[in-house]
Amino acid sequence: MSHLLFEPFTLRDVTFRNRIWVPPMCQYSVERKDGVATDWHLVHLGGMARGGAGAIIVEATGVVPDGRISQQDLGLWNDTQRDALVPIVDFLCSQGAAAGIQLAHAGRKASTWAAWGTDRTGSLPLDEGGWVTDGPSELAFPGLVTPRALEETGIREIVKAFAASAKRAMEAGFDFVEIHAAHGYLLHEFLSPLSNTRTDEYGGALVNRARFLLEVVDAVRGEIGESVPMFVRLSATDWTDGGLTLDDTVEIVNLLKQHSVDLIDVSTGANVPATIPVGPGYQVAFASGIRERTGVPTAAVGLITEPFQAEQILASGQADAVLLGREMLRDPHFPLRAAKALRHELPYIPGQYLRAYG
Ligand SMILES: Cc1cc2nc3c(=O)[nH]c(=O)nc-3n(C[C@H](O)[C@H](O)[C@H](O)COP(=O)(O)O)c2cc1C
Repeated sequence: MSHLLFEPFTLRDVTFRNRIWVPPMCQYSVERKDGVATDWHLVHLGGMARGGAGAIIVEATGVVPDGRISQQDLGLWNDTQRDALVPIVDFLCSQGAAAGIQLAHAGRKASTWAAWGTDRTGSLPLDEGGWVTDGPSELAFPGLVTPRALEETGIREIVKAFAASAKRAMEAGFDFVEIHAAHGYLLHEFLSPLSNTRTDEYGGALVNRARFLLEVVDAVRGEIGESVPMFVRLSATDWTDGGLTLDDTVEIVNLLKQHSVDLIDVSTGANVPATIPVGPGYQVAFASGIRERTGVPTAAVGLITEPFQAEQILASGQADAVLLGREMLRDPHFPLRAAKALRHELPYIPGQYLRAYG
């Protein structure tokens, strides 16, 4: 039987072997605090490539030290960090998965405690390794310290840092890149009127609030060339009155389309605390709305956990691919299991594991 989940998908010069992809997931596992990937990252990501994922996006990776959420995040601002990613990319590709990396700056949500391994939460104090954070305006995320408002020179430096990290990602062999403009991190903070009250050309009208993101996109495209796909992750709504809505996001995506972005990874929220109606596939309607109204390919994410549910999202034309986060943490072999459940014969079950799938 044919299933869309297992149909290849092509963007620019990259063909993804299927449409079950892994979204970026911070591991907070850089114990040396130097942004350099470890054996954990290789085994964690490698297991999901072995398990049949079509694409794997490495976790939010800081383009500058101050752009990390925590000291335990990955970074890509130097060559040592680049070189440590090479064996990971090589292994993902050897298993048939396309390798991507999420380039990120955490903005006013940077410099926090890691999400596990400590019972402390909130901003990391300066005398314990924390740093002063940057945002569009001097408005704090509730519970975190107040950021400095970035000056134009600071914005220009960060644009350059995204480009430099994208260059290193290409040197490491990545097949595609994703720019993190969601979840209340720096680029989302600029997009949303809830966090951006600037009066210069980076604030005010939506086209101004999108300027920083578009500059990053253009700078990254300049480094990765025409053959490499570029994704952007957006929060399609702030789930809050006065914040970003789906209509705003459609406008942003229409701009991104003119700036050579190939796919929108559609998430929501996290720029301000909000009540979110969480349930199975709760963000899929946003991926669907963006795809339908802009014609730009989308990937849907958020509580997609079942093979038939995932197939249905694609078959009903709501998205071009599905991203499974926590389900892939629970079962890194989800794609192999889904093929079995859907009675789909997969040509890429690892030979070493064939006896488990007979
Ligand atoms: C452990 C963990 C780490 C995450 N880290 C990131 C990240 O680095 N970048 C990002 O954009 N989203 C991150 N997310 C969000 C996921 O990419 C995904 O959007 C979210 O978990 C919803 O999908 P799910 O219901 O399939 O898990 C993370 C989620 C989890 C569970």
